[in-house]
Amino acid sequence: MRHQSPFLWLLLLLWLPPGLPAAQERGAIASAHPLATEAGHAILAQGGNAFDAAVTVAAVLAVVEPYSSGMGGGGFWLLHRARDGFEVMLDGRERAPLAAHRDLYLDSKGEVVPGLSVNGTLAAGIPGQPAALAHLAARYGRLPLARTLAPAIRLAREGFPVDGHYRRMAEWRLEQLRQWPASKQQFLIDDAVPPLDAVVRQPQLAETLRRMAEQGHDGFYRGPVAERLVAGVRAAGGIWQLPDLAEYRVVEREPVRGEYRGMKSTSAAPPSSGGIVLISMLNQLARFDLDKYPSVQRKHLVVEVMRRAYRDRAEYLGDPDFVDMPVARLIDPDYAAGLTRDIQLDAATPSRYQPAGTGLEGQDTTHYSIIDAEGNRVSATLSINYPFGSCFVVPGTGILLNDEMDDFSARPGAPNVYGLVGGEANAIEPGKRMLSSMTPTFVETDQGVAVLGTPGGSRIISMLLHGILALAEGGGPEAWVSRPRYHHQYLPDVIQFEPGALYTDEQRQLMELGHKLKPLDSGYGNMQALFWNRQDGHLSGASDPRGIGKAVVE
Ligand code: GLY
Repeated sequence: MRHQSPFLWLLLLLWLPPGLPAAQERGAIASAHPLATEAGHAILAQGGNAFDAAVTVAAVLAVVEPYSSGMGGGGFWLLHRARDGFEVMLDGRERAPLAAHRDLYLDSKGEVVPGLSVNGTLAAGIPGQPAALAHLAARYGRLPLARTLAPAIRLAREGFPVDGHYRRMAEWRLEQLRQWPASKQQFLIDDAVPPLDAVVRQPQLAETLRRMAEQGHDGFYRGPVAERLVAGVRAAGGIWQLPDLAEYRVVEREPVRGEYRGMKSTSAAPPSSGGIVLISMLNQLARFDLDKYPSVQRKHLVVEVMRRAYRDRAEYLGDPDFVDMPVARLIDPDYAAGLTRDIQLDAATPSRYQPAGTGLEGQDTTHYSIIDAEGNRVSATLSINYPFGSCFVVPGTGILLNDEMDDFSARPGAPNVYGLVGGEANAIEPGKRMLSSMTPTFVETDQGVAVLGTPGGSRIISMLLHGILALAEGGGPEAWVSRPRYHHQYLPDVIQFEPGALYTDEQRQLMELGHKLKPLDSGYGNMQALFWNRQDGHLSGASDPRGIGKAVVE
């Protein structure tokens, strides 16, 4: 999809009749787990729209991919409603408990206590996913929650087979999962990681989901489930109170938008940094005619724009309900032009300036993309942060809590375990949402619409950039999800790269330019992508070859 003139694009849009059925097929879904993709399609087949399917896919992922997301976590749902073009981002991000304070994770000497914001009850923000699903169903869906949650309830009750990815994630978090009786019971067998194909049943989670199916939002945030959540958290040393749950609300936020080579991106707004950083990188790259540079210089330029956008992320971004942010400026092409002014073609810019920034988010998280036959679409990235979140299942609820509190700056101004420094904009405050990198995105080209996103902590945003660059070069979903990845996030001042992302010769040349390199042992990310070709009406999709997910068009 090379650059077309805006005039041609406008002609094409005018030519497309507004009521045209969006797609020849019933719909397309790409998610990180085949059972979630299949359940979403079953809901489309029952007459549900993309928003109903989005409830189902998220709920099934909560059951079968408990290491990535869940009802004890949160996320962002980017929606496009076909009938009127309405677009919105549902912010179902976790909030800090009302009893939290900026020094929650510091000892009496003001030092960060290792692990406190990662493991156990103190690490858990107030979940947003149950509220977001209830909101999605009530405001945008057609089917009752009793229908859309049914597949997840069944899988929680009857169980699902353990796969290799589950085993790897459980192995990583085994010591923490063993700490808590309810977690052991739910996710381990005989105190060990379950063998392949063992069946994991979660009857208490099934019961909590059943209450949500019956009572919606209040089934989770008020009544017996809420009471058990608060009692269980407090008995294990946590600080939750009933008003934390009763006051939780989903926020509808205006997405952020940008344009690159005639392609229009719509992406996540704060409290995610994703859309702003993505659009800043694209705006900066638009200053260069990338096609004219040899591959190594293109990669150098991509790294330099990542460096600058991630520096701004660290400096400025946080929860918009608590912090004033110069969002319009950060996504302004003129501002990007200023950022690129000191990019040199023959030298890396050292990351000298120490912004008061934020930490690297957890490695897990999940993403799914949906387009239905009417053209409604959903791009959703959900998280409980680290694999298996805080590793704490609240007794009597089946709810595994997130450890999203680690996405706050534990101590503004000091480096965190990943070598990044924490900032004021993202300091802990009661009721505040922690900064995220989740970047659910739509891209409209002259040919159609892409829906894409991925997990992967702070690397999420640079993965989206690689995907969109592959799209700009004319590739389809397979190319976006499989493109080799490299990443720079300002600090630490290194290029991380997957095997195969930088040729040996390129590595040498990049080092000669002054870059420091950090080869990774394996790939990262798990992108789920769809494309609706508006010229022929066809849908296509791809699930990242690094994961076990599935993209299906029916
Ligand atoms: N915890 C991952 C993120 O929010 O970016």
